[in-house]
Amino acid sequence: MENVAAIILAAGKGTRMKSGLVKVLHPIAGRPMIDWPLEAARGAGAAPVVLVVGHQAEAVRERFQGAGDIACAMQAEQLGTGHAVACAAPALAGFSGTVLILCGDTPLLRGGTLTDLLAFHRTRGAAVTVLTARMENPHGYGRVLRDEAGRVLRIVEQKDASPQECSVREINSGIYCMEAGFLFDNIGSLGNDNAQNEFYLTDLVAMAAQKGATCLAMAIEDSDEIMGVNDRAQLAQAARILRRRINRDLMLSGVSLIDPEQTYIDQGVVIGPDTLIHPNCSISGPTQIGNGCLIESGVSISSCRIGDRCRIKAGSVLEDSELRADVAVGPMAHLRPGTVLNDHVKIGNFVETKKTIMGEGSKASHLTYLGDAEIGRDVNIGCGTITCNYDGVKKHRTVIDDNVFVGSDVQLVAPVRVGADSLIAAGTTVTRDVPAGSLAISRTPQVNREGWRIRMKKKT
Ligand code: UD1
Ligand code: CA
Repeated sequence: MENVAAIILAAGKGTRMKSGLVKVLHPIAGRPMIDWPLEAARGAGAAPVVLVVGHQAEAVRERFQGAGDIACAMQAEQLGTGHAVACAAPALAGFSGTVLILCGDTPLLRGGTLTDLLAFHRTRGAAVTVLTARMENPHGYGRVLRDEAGRVLRIVEQKDASPQECSVREINSGIYCMEAGFLFDNIGSLGNDNAQNEFYLTDLVAMAAQKGATCLAMAIEDSDEIMGVNDRAQLAQAARILRRRINRDLMLSGVSLIDPEQTYIDQGVVIGPDTLIHPNCSISGPTQIGNGCLIESGVSISSCRIGDRCRIKAGSVLEDSELRADVAVGPMAHLRPGTVLNDHVKIGNFVETKKTIMGEGSKASHLTYLGDAEIGRDVNIGCGTITCNYDGVKKHRTVIDDNVFVGSDVQLVAPVRVGADSLIAAGTTVTRDVPAGSLAISRTPQVNREGWRIRMKKKT
């Protein structure tokens, strides 16, 4: 659609969040709240988008630095929604067309709804169109007042409404479509003679009706979509609805979720068909998961790339790691940033890795720490192996070449290199490089003192 701009109001503090962080930056399904209405505006073809910022303006601005279609307008003092829109006017000087006005705290709004609103507004040649909904409990919202013929007359805020006006169920979503000419000609003449001494944007509706300009309301069926988030209870409620949408899309694209109500997947995560996800998993960041994987319960994955047919067993935590195909991890494994596991690698229970590459077919099946290590193909890492990578000052690398067999309870004191095809005997502390094809063994010789224990017992 042509000539559509948007203004998103985001200057308020969000007092009811009781937070040190400004409301519109609170994350919801993996993104700051403001991203959601912004994406809806972009989805409806709006450019530019003007964000009206005030509280923690710098933090909000920083978030959108470099986004060419976004301008920020400052509202230093929050004197009301009408005043906020007036602050955005200079950023849209010379713009002629239709302006969408949104709030930064309505994360459930869909781009498709704005496209419908624009079409409704334009085909009827309206100056102002308000998006409304009928609510069972309209408490707190502005009410839409109409005449007997159903024409929109004005919007009254709850705090200014008579008991009779309060009984109206049709509410103002705070989302509007306005012709730029009408909007900017009139925004300067709003007054603040009301219960809150604020400049109400909603008064433009009465102004349009009085001036004989066409002022309409488009009601939507799904009142969830325009739900405003004011406190943390509503934040959780909105997050649940977003998760349902994300999970439904994934399921329709071929991903199985055993219990979608207890699966926490962020917007933007990509998962291939025939992957099965058990309950209580959270998958976040820019994560990609291939086809036919199994993610067992209680797994947490952030910013990972996982290939096809991988199995992540219960209770594992994976961060900034890359897994190629047919990899098995866990249960209770911890892959820390910089882990790269090639095809058919197996990481077993209570294994922790960090900045470690494992070649095809290598295994560390139990109770192991591998940090700053480069491990070749078909290497077996025995139970209880530890790379001693940190000397208290610096981190050092351990290199283990192809086909090495590391026995149980081995310490590799880095920097150290174990050549291909060698064997490290159980209990060995490796402090020097091991040449290829060798056996390395370092053990304190065992002493057996016969009868010792029996003699001790007799003494006591
Ligand atoms: C507003 C509407 C109300 C509607 C409701 C829908 C007015 C007067 N009332 O009420 O009819 O039912 O939204 O959710 O418009 N903001 C600024 N600067 C300001 C004031 C607000 O940027 O000076 C921003 C806030 O950060 C927020 C949005 O505007 O994102 C809405 O403000 P809020 O105070 O929540 O308005 P409501 O009282 O909910
Ligand atoms: Ca609000």
